[in-house]
Amino acid sequence: MKIVIPGGTGQVGGVLRRALVARGDEVTVLSRRPERLEDGVRYVVWDGRTLGAWAEAVDGAEAVINLAGRTVSCRYTDENLRQMMNSRVDSTRVVGEAIAQAAAPPRVWLQMSTATIYADARSRPDDLPQDETTGTIGGSEPVVPLYWEYSVRIARRWEQEQTDADTPRTRRVALRTAMVMTPDRGGVYDYLSWMTRLRLGGAVAGGQQYVSWIHGEDFVRAVELLLERDDIEGPVNLASPGPVPQRDLMRSLRKAWGVGLGLPATRAMAELGALVLRTDTELLLKSRRVVPGRLLEAGFEFRYPSWPEAAADLSRARRAPAAPYGPRGQGV
Ligand SMILES: NC(=O)c1ccc[n+]([C@@H]2O[C@H](COP(=O)([O-])OP(=O)(O)OC[C@H]3O[C@@H](n4cnc5c(N)ncnc54)[C@H](OP(=O)(O)O)[C@@H]3O)[C@@H](O)[C@H]2O)c1
Repeated sequence: MKIVIPGGTGQVGGVLRRALVARGDEVTVLSRRPERLEDGVRYVVWDGRTLGAWAEAVDGAEAVINLAGRTVSCRYTDENLRQMMNSRVDSTRVVGEAIAQAAAPPRVWLQMSTATIYADARSRPDDLPQDETTGTIGGSEPVVPLYWEYSVRIARRWEQEQTDADTPRTRRVALRTAMVMTPDRGGVYDYLSWMTRLRLGGAVAGGQQYVSWIHGEDFVRAVELLLERDDIEGPVNLASPGPVPQRDLMRSLRKAWGVGLGLPATRAMAELGALVLRTDTELLLKSRRVVPGRLLEAGFEFRYPSWPEAAADLSRARRAPAAPYGPRGQGV
């Protein structure tokens, strides 16, 4: 397939690019600063906000997978929140415009979204898991800090831009994605592994908050399914069926890395740590118990449905520098 990936230079883009190129797709990445040369990938400059020559790459492509957005791993200052919002809303709007004006628009537009759109799991009766039908959209939970509402607002506006786009000939899917776990440097798994090896990988604030996650390999396989399945439109949860409480997530990581001790942290200690690491505690403390209703309904089988096996696989892959990890276990 001819596939265009706006924002495909980041962590998720890395795992996806490699997999799509390996299966023979023609991949074009849109980037504000394309710096690298990579076999099988074409890089085209865009600004993420306005139409330009880059839109020619969209015309005649079969699929667009838009991943662009300023990283959320930062302090939630007013300025950072504004950039988080604008980079997502603007890039989605302009991707929609490029598709709308294409003579030969893509058959499918997969738009990144986030599992963070759902309410904190502790705000629901019985703390039930949330799929696309049973889930509650967040933003008005009484049990969480008020400022967490803004992340949900970003997610809603992000999805709304795709819904509002005038692209009648293109199937649209919003990827409500949980934490994508890959062994690559700089990703979430790398960060959690680093904490674990420093003996800091214990429960945070009691550790009962759920963590939703998906193995990178399953993320790629789910995207491949969504590229093909013409009957699937709208929001789809990309999360493993086995979200785990944070304390269990860290316990499995300690086991995978052979580390006995993981110091627990109170909420105040986590706040201090997040300040030092220039990130926000919402990423650690919000309870995300998101499950894949529509993927399972579509017959998708997870290779890594449960976290202990996923963590063991990822740490094995991370330890093997001689055999760089490909999304299907091939070298890349
Ligand atoms: N990683 C996860 O576990 C996860 C989970 C759920 C959702 N997501 C979402 O999935 C997307 C990709 O995640 P990721 O981890 O790959 O993120 P990432 O590593 O931060 O990459 C995102 C890419 O977006 C582009 N970008 C950044 N700021 C931009 C702006 N102002 N305008 C246009 N493009 C901009 C950058 O590309 P250039 O610098 O090359 O332009 C960057 O490489 C993000 O939107 C993220 O919120 C990620």
